[in-house]
Amino acid sequence: MAQKKSFSGRGMGIDLGTANTLVYVKGEGIVLNEPSVVAVNAVDGEVVSVGRDAKRTIGRTPSHIVALRPMRDGVIADFDMAERMLAYFVRKVAGTRRFNRPTVVICVPSGITGVERRAVVEAAMGAGARQVHLIEEPMAAAIGAGLPVNEPTGSMVVDIGGGTTEVAVVSMGGVVAARSVRTAGDAIDAAIVSHVKREHCLLIGERTAEELKATIGSASPVGYWSDELRRLDREIERDSAAEAGAGSAGEDAVRVRLDDTDTDAGTGTDSGSDGGIEGITQSLLPPDRCRIRGRDQVSGLPKTLDIGADELRQAIAEPVDAIVHAVRHTLDTCPPELAGDIMERGVVLTGGGALLRGLDVRLRQELDVPVLVAAEPLHCVAVGAGKCVEEYGTYRPVLEAQPHRLAAARLG
Ligand SMILES: Nc1ncnc2c1ncn2[C@@H]1O[C@H](COP(=O)(O)OP(=O)(O)OP(=O)(O)O)[C@@H](O)[C@H]1O
Ligand SMILES: [Mg+2]
Repeated sequence: MAQKKSFSGRGMGIDLGTANTLVYVKGEGIVLNEPSVVAVNAVDGEVVSVGRDAKRTIGRTPSHIVALRPMRDGVIADFDMAERMLAYFVRKVAGTRRFNRPTVVICVPSGITGVERRAVVEAAMGAGARQVHLIEEPMAAAIGAGLPVNEPTGSMVVDIGGGTTEVAVVSMGGVVAARSVRTAGDAIDAAIVSHVKREHCLLIGERTAEELKATIGSASPVGYWSDELRRLDREIERDSAAEAGAGSAGEDAVRVRLDDTDTDAGTGTDSGSDGGIEGITQSLLPPDRCRIRGRDQVSGLPKTLDIGADELRQAIAEPVDAIVHAVRHTLDTCPPELAGDIMERGVVLTGGGALLRGLDVRLRQELDVPVLVAAEPLHCVAVGAGKCVEEYGTYRPVLEAQPHRLAAARLG
């Protein structure tokens, strides 16, 4: 059977993510990490650029060039474009390495349907893979985060990507309990866009929203900055005010310029809005307010708006609550012995969404379990897929436990 073969030669592990695609090459590690974006000429359907180049051109191209994200909600939304994107990345990686139709371990969200699974396998085969193994994303994330997936002990991983949040309890090489919700980073960005539009009549793009989230977004006020950091900061401010004499310190906000363009990485639907953000801080701490630029919904003219961390936290409460709920539900439905292991060992957060400030604190408070953020949350899934290629003997049972029958059938 195809899946019993060893990984002779050079295999690849691929994290085909909604936001980012990462490729791990056996013996080398992560060699490619690019946005999952394709720029296409709408007139002749030709692909103009892929990945980082495509993301850079968004909003700066003539109107006939459209930037697409072929992956949406964690699954393939535009099959043709996904296949072309994957083929481009595989070619880019293989080109200098004399790969000949590599064996590929590719990650898929745990909740996808058979049809969606087939689409991923076909895209990988179309991109030149000789053999394709599918691995569920949370399992790859758990392996990549260094959890003991093969041991008879329960480990819980929560992978918060762009399109999906995957919660899973793994034990003895398999997924024991899992939940996949299509609420993750993109939903948080969308909540910011609609809040700013509804409350301030300001149109901003998804990329401005995403930068705002990464700069001052938070899931809990406690986790935003530690009390100790605030205290130190107040001391520094007091000292410098004393040195400088009364008056000037703190009067003028220091503005950290973060970006001057607004683009929409996703649909290009609001590419006309001027955008960008500046973080505003009066101290050495990271900003807790941002100045955003967008387009006034009524006048159509460019407009700026200052927005604070507290307001933003309220704006993203709904999707954040949905993520917390998914974790709680999985814990609630988990067999008692494994729940005991998790209480003891904690929950590990992976994926870019794990970087949202205070999310770990919020989960810890609400669920009363220890919560840790993985060391390189954005890399865990690709590293996990890569480890399956590197240490095939160790992870073979894991790959064989995956619903891979479709791939095996295709490979005869
Ligand atoms: N500092 C940050 N704070 C909050 N969110 C962040 C931060 N950095 C990145 N993100 C978010 O992480 C998400 C991307 O994470 P990741 O690369 O793990 O997703 P993906 O694997 O492409 O998506 P999926 O797993 O759903 O297919 C984006 O929504 C991005 O906005
Ligand atoms: Mg992911």
